[in-house]
Amino acid sequence: MDFELKPLTLAQASELPADALALAWPDHLPDTLPTPLTGPWAQGAEALLAWLQPLLKAGELDAGTGKQLVALACPAVAARRLVLVRVGDGSASAVRKGMLAAFSGLKLPQVKKVVVFLGLPGVNEVAVRAAVVAAAESTYLYTATLSKPKARHLHKVVLALPDSERSRQLLSEGKALVSGMELAKEWANRPANHATPSMLADAAEKLGKHPHVKVEVLGPKDVAKLGMGAFMAVAQGSSEPLRFIVIHYSGGSKAQAPVVLVGKGITFDTGGISIKPAAEMDEMKFDMGGAASVLGTLQAVALLQPRINVIGIIPSCENMPDGRAIKPGDVVTSMSGQTIEILNTDAEGRLILCDALTYAARFKPASVVDVATLTGACVVALGGVRSGLFSPDDALAHKLAAAGEQAQDLCWRMPLDDEYAEGLKSNFADMGNVAGRTGGAISAAKFLQKFTGELPWAHLDIAGTAWKSGPAKGSTGRPVPLLVQYVLNEAASLAQPPSGKSKKHPG
Ligand code: BES
Ligand code: MN
Ligand code: ZN
Repeated sequence: MDFELKPLTLAQASELPADALALAWPDHLPDTLPTPLTGPWAQGAEALLAWLQPLLKAGELDAGTGKQLVALACPAVAARRLVLVRVGDGSASAVRKGMLAAFSGLKLPQVKKVVVFLGLPGVNEVAVRAAVVAAAESTYLYTATLSKPKARHLHKVVLALPDSERSRQLLSEGKALVSGMELAKEWANRPANHATPSMLADAAEKLGKHPHVKVEVLGPKDVAKLGMGAFMAVAQGSSEPLRFIVIHYSGGSKAQAPVVLVGKGITFDTGGISIKPAAEMDEMKFDMGGAASVLGTLQAVALLQPRINVIGIIPSCENMPDGRAIKPGDVVTSMSGQTIEILNTDAEGRLILCDALTYAARFKPASVVDVATLTGACVVALGGVRSGLFSPDDALAHKLAAAGEQAQDLCWRMPLDDEYAEGLKSNFADMGNVAGRTGGAISAAKFLQKFTGELPWAHLDIAGTAWKSGPAKGSTGRPVPLLVQYVLNEAASLAQPPSGKSKKHPG
């Protein structure tokens, strides 16, 4: 899909040939058009506004963000279809909601080119990014394993609004986000036989074509040399060889500490010997959603080339029952030297992540954020709206939560009191891999915390947000927007000259 930014007034936008013209309509515009409306945006569009007036007066545009008035063959509009879509107060979240609704309504074979006018007063500039992401999101089609894949009808989106440096930046961010989210969706949606650890590694290697990106892929022997006993234990029940993927994006100076993103890459989670029930087990192909979001984030970052160093780490394997598989009660030694009693082989995500977190320390990172479809308990706690955010580091937690708000990819901070780790005690190893039934998302995070030492670390449990179940089953591409925003914000704060408020003196 092609996106183009054009500095146009409403009058000019309505003259553009297209299949649809969508106007982002903020709530504060009165329904008694056009009398009180003045300003450069309305100039030349009098005929259109006069035509709209009686419709608006008659209440044809319902109240509520996302509600639309659709008109065909409006005399003052070159496009066949005119769509007025409510974007509430014009804020990022309202524009996103409105744009998703508008583009979903425009999913028609005859709609190939859409002009979106974002220049009405009160529409936040971030509307540009929101519109780009919404257009892509509402028209995304999975194709990888279909014999007759459908094609997207929508080819071109013209974003009409006053030109500015910021809007051009938002357009490139939007395009990079779309590319990253679609890469994440593609890999998460693929069935496990079309997304093995080796295939995931091949996808990662493709990122190496971008400037400043280098990709390393380690196999079973390398991982054994590193002593990743916990990761190897999960992989040993599968005939697919494990892969440990490390993606380096070096946009900053060599001396600069990197942001490290660690993604859970279980390409299929049967539960292992502690096998899962059959119902909906197919959804466990999404158990590499964390890995997919790390790939997607690095792709977006590689397209945007911010001045920062980012490292993506993906431990990837299958979790299978087998004659060689780990058994409940087995004790393994992690790369950190700590021993783990594997009480439940279905709590495998933490086992592969703990070794990846130990490995991450070698990069002396500015921050480490792991991303994982880790627990069903997190789905129960937060559903599909917000990802679970866990961090003992207040500053890092605030930055991630803020990035989520900015990118409209929300998360919610959860507690990490030491009492939640009580249940992880074991009589036969330094720790067990599961605690009791209650607070399962938190005890999983407490397990990971045992491997992070002094690292500025955060954990995102995306079990509820990385995919949707039901008829619209599929990957959401989350939390790529949150992670990309976090990386861009970090890059921006690195670029800032040191201010009076030195970071060395907190408080
Ligand atoms: N991949 C699952 C978590 C999961 C469950 C993600 C449902 C999405 C939807 C993870 O490996 C797992 O099986 N976790 C167990 C942990 C338990 C054994 C302590 C769980 O949540 O049931
Ligand atoms: Mn599991
Ligand atoms: Zn899992």
